[in-house]
Amino acid sequence: MDRATPTEIPRPPAPSKPLKEGGTIEPVREILWGSSAGVRKLETAEEVPPEMRKLIVKLMVVQADTEFASIQQHRPWLDRAPTLEDRWIEARIVADEARHGLQACRILRDFGEEGQGLIDELLTKREGEHKLDAFNMTFDRWADVGAFTCFVDRVGVYQLRAFQECSYGPLARAMPLMLSEEQLHLNFGYSVLKRIVKDGPKYADSREAAQSAVQRWYPRALDMFGHSNSETSRRAIEMGLKRWTNEEARARYIQEITPLMRSIGLELPPADFDRHVL
Ligand SMILES: [Fe+2]
Ligand SMILES: [Fe+2]
Repeated sequence: MDRATPTEIPRPPAPSKPLKEGGTIEPVREILWGSSAGVRKLETAEEVPPEMRKLIVKLMVVQADTEFASIQQHRPWLDRAPTLEDRWIEARIVADEARHGLQACRILRDFGEEGQGLIDELLTKREGEHKLDAFNMTFDRWADVGAFTCFVDRVGVYQLRAFQECSYGPLARAMPLMLSEEQLHLNFGYSVLKRIVKDGPKYADSREAAQSAVQRWYPRALDMFGHSNSETSRRAIEMGLKRWTNEEARARYIQEITPLMRSIGLELPPADFDRHVL
């Protein structure tokens, strides 16, 4: 069982030299966890063994698919968001998600014809055709935008953190910028929900709308972590690609989001409410 044998993840070593203003942290060159811990990270697609290649390709297809899907979901709100600032942040989120999609596709592209074929397929996907349920749902009101960015983008952050310093160098190096951009998205989502609770229809939607958006998106966000006893997530840890099992990541997420919702007076349904993936 995944949870019975938690993998000890060593912390990345602290940078050896003090950082100058505008300087960069020296990249970690060796694999930090899993069965190849201590060995040099894999830096090119050619070096990646077949099972790991299959997994990286699968993970990047899902990643890119969610990025492109969320552009479609946000698009109607670019000129419907309640305030000027909200419209500007919506535009920024759409630009960020496009960049994240591009970044995932660049990794796919390194895997030659197979990767390029998958990119071509990703670009044809319309609303409702995406892999994860959360990305096939529409934002019917502004409270949905708040709940989606607060709940679903936050899961995205957990998924990206799981790749931080992973054993495939090009993927590990893509993480810091993506993570800092995602942080803006989920802070924005939280502030939208908070403002709705505080100001109600004077700002956008009623408090009840915010609560029902929580009921709608929270279960889909929990589903995104995947099955609890997933063999794939166990193998991904062994290969040094992911840090946590699905269940570990989901438990940390619940721990983080519970006090956040309580602090703005919204209630979370139980973790097994309306779940599709257990
Ligand atoms: Fe993203
Ligand atoms: Fe995002």
